[in-house]
Amino acid sequence: MAPPHAPRTRIVVLVSGNGSNLQAVLDACDDGSIPAEVVAVVSNRSSAFALERAATAGVPSVHVGKHTDETRRDYDARLADIVAGFAPDLVVLAGWMRILTSDFLGWFPDRVINLHPARPGELPGVNAIERAWHEAMAGQRTSTGVMVHLVPDEGVDDGPVLATEDVDIRPDDTFDTLADRIHAVEHRLLVATIATLCRQPSSTSSGATP
Ligand code: GRF
Repeated sequence: MAPPHAPRTRIVVLVSGNGSNLQAVLDACDDGSIPAEVVAVVSNRSSAFALERAATAGVPSVHVGKHTDETRRDYDARLADIVAGFAPDLVVLAGWMRILTSDFLGWFPDRVINLHPARPGELPGVNAIERAWHEAMAGQRTSTGVMVHLVPDEGVDDGPVLATEDVDIRPDDTFDTLADRIHAVEHRLLVATIATLCRQPSSTSSGATP
């Protein structure tokens, strides 16, 4: 645990849905297991339950929806401006369902991390758990995994791997039992990865740069 007066890593969490991973990060900040503070939660969907989790935790939250007449790059630049306003040391994509362009990523070099419910190089994109389960039911795989990686560019669920863990798929697994087990691993791995990043000397040292 960090000394009481050590600067805490400022985290902005980007979400699109339920926010169970956001909750794991909020809880870990709260109980001191990571020396960090979630300074804002940003959602591209107004209905995301994650926004309610932020409100319950007393964390500022913002809905930043894409306007219909707005280009992807203009949206990302606007999003970057809003996120940069919270001066994050770390931007965590936790169930964020949009691919970010360099108009966003260029503002936060080496500071954006993503969580994906599959092993590196496997099952990029949406519904990764469902696809792994279907492949297992078809006899094509017996395990899957979870990874946390840096997001350097527009590659989908791709980038330097910070942490990964395998998850067995059991013969009697239903989609729900597999999803529950993967989510439990995600919560643990995301918190552990953030804890490691917070202990690195640069984790509270600089702001956003275009
Ligand atoms: C997680 O499985 C995450 O890996 C994926 O979307 C899901 C988000 O879950 N990208 P939650 O919103 O954190 O509950």
